[in-house]
Amino acid sequence: MTVNISSIGLKGLEGYRVQVEVQVSKGTESMVIVGLPDASVKESKERVLSAIRTLDCDVTDHKIVVNLSPSEQKKNGPLFDLAMAIAVLKERKQIKEEIPQDTAFLGALSLDGTVVKVEGMLPSLIAAKGLGFKRVILPYDPLLPLEMLEGIEYVVVHHIVDVLQSIRGQILLPFHKVPSSIEKTISTEYQKDFSHIIGQEKAKLALEVAAAGGHNVLMSGPPGCGKSLLAETFPSILPFLTKQAQLEVISLYQLAQEKLLTPQLAPYRHPHHSASSVAIIGGGSNPKPGEISLAHHGVLFLDEMAEFTKKTLDMLRQPLETGKVTISRAHSTVTYPSSFILIGAMNPCPCGYLGANTHYCACTPKQIQTYRNRVSGPIYDRMDVLLSLNPVSLDQPSETRESSLVIRKRVEQARQRQYDRYQAELCNARVTFEQLAEVSLLTDSQRKMITQVSSKKQWSNRVQVKMIRLARTISDLAGDSQITDESIWKAMTLRRTNLAKDSLRAREN
Ligand SMILES: Nc1ncnc2c1ncn2[C@@H]1O[C@H](COP(=O)(O)OP(=O)(O)OP(=O)(O)O)[C@@H](O)[C@H]1O
Ligand SMILES: [Mg+2]
Repeated sequence: MTVNISSIGLKGLEGYRVQVEVQVSKGTESMVIVGLPDASVKESKERVLSAIRTLDCDVTDHKIVVNLSPSEQKKNGPLFDLAMAIAVLKERKQIKEEIPQDTAFLGALSLDGTVVKVEGMLPSLIAAKGLGFKRVILPYDPLLPLEMLEGIEYVVVHHIVDVLQSIRGQILLPFHKVPSSIEKTISTEYQKDFSHIIGQEKAKLALEVAAAGGHNVLMSGPPGCGKSLLAETFPSILPFLTKQAQLEVISLYQLAQEKLLTPQLAPYRHPHHSASSVAIIGGGSNPKPGEISLAHHGVLFLDEMAEFTKKTLDMLRQPLETGKVTISRAHSTVTYPSSFILIGAMNPCPCGYLGANTHYCACTPKQIQTYRNRVSGPIYDRMDVLLSLNPVSLDQPSETRESSLVIRKRVEQARQRQYDRYQAELCNARVTFEQLAEVSLLTDSQRKMITQVSSKKQWSNRVQVKMIRLARTISDLAGDSQITDESIWKAMTLRRTNLAKDSLRAREN
């Protein structure tokens, strides 16, 4: 007889239904697993055989064949141990009751039959409802925010005996709301606040627009003018994450085995320029999410952007455009979400003082060009806002400075306007151009205005569209239902001409 038990596999962040099929026949004692198992799945055999022996299930002189389908999909990790053990027990008639196909079994087994947690179970649980499951049997994991998942009955088990009893209806252990450790660590406080930053009004406005519409910003300026400070303070004006976004973020952090203390807050990642491209983009033999996916729904800050390798920066092109990253390896291709706001900071030249009124810049035009060329044209093209910062006088009154809380309220209102307009949690920088054009019509004179300026400044089509997106966000912040002429002018002032050309012109003058 063949027994079929359901479980859930993971491809990237996507869960898929796995059928664990078991057949037992007379023969030399052995267990064979087929269906593209990786090394850790192959090791399941020893754990499963040992665990079922603790229940006096005798499989001596029997050959067990386990087939994991869909067979073309590579299976990773020890997540299917429990489903395999239950299938063998059912086949050996240790379980008489019917096991419905809408019950999924997840978890690894230890040799004594204890059901143990596996890294990255959350994405499987999030997928369970969509895959048609009504019940999931799983091990206890304090890091699983089960209270945030709805529409499924969770049965938390500690030992395989609990699973048998649950199937027999002897004891039912539905999930009772154990507050997860994530819930206990809620903190919505930021260490840095916009009210601590003196001057830099244009940069603050640009960051407010970036937060409201999800736009990318590149800041350039001499050392010590506050670039890193502004970027580090930026998360404090971002709206808190929705429940769905939090679940995605928690899943990505669990898959990357990274600590996440406050899932309510937009993630903020600032990898060092010496980080490898695998660390930033994601990868490995069993591809894991990289920094760009850990920044999903949040901010990726690349400080000293020109110091990152060109290869790493160019790898950001696809994720910046699509909001996801596809990593291909010999045996598997996975896609992770990576929709983030990119904030870059760099000096205007190798010595750092080009254009500064405090120091004389000693770099040659060639040195400046080489330095600037480290960031390729396509990356400059993907930045919405290009800012040139200068040092400010620290002797300014503090009472006029707005706090991050006040700015965040405006950002939240502007975001809500965008969600209402697009009928989805999308912001102006992410919505398709067709959708943007459909709901935000430009007047003939506005179109002319953009065309004239862009032909003068040699803006690409992408940058022209970015100007419309920026203008839409500025109008959203002002509460205007249509894009105003003023917002288009403001948008265009937020982007200087090609940084490299500017700097060279400045040197020549
Ligand atoms: N506008 C400002 N308001 C208050 N403090 C500031 C401001 N600008 C700079 N500072 C102070 O100067 C320090 C250095 O600033 P920051 O690290 O942001 O400079 P930077 O522009 O990133 O320089 P670099 O190019 O060398 O990385 C900050 O930690 C902060 O204490
Ligand atoms: Mg800095």
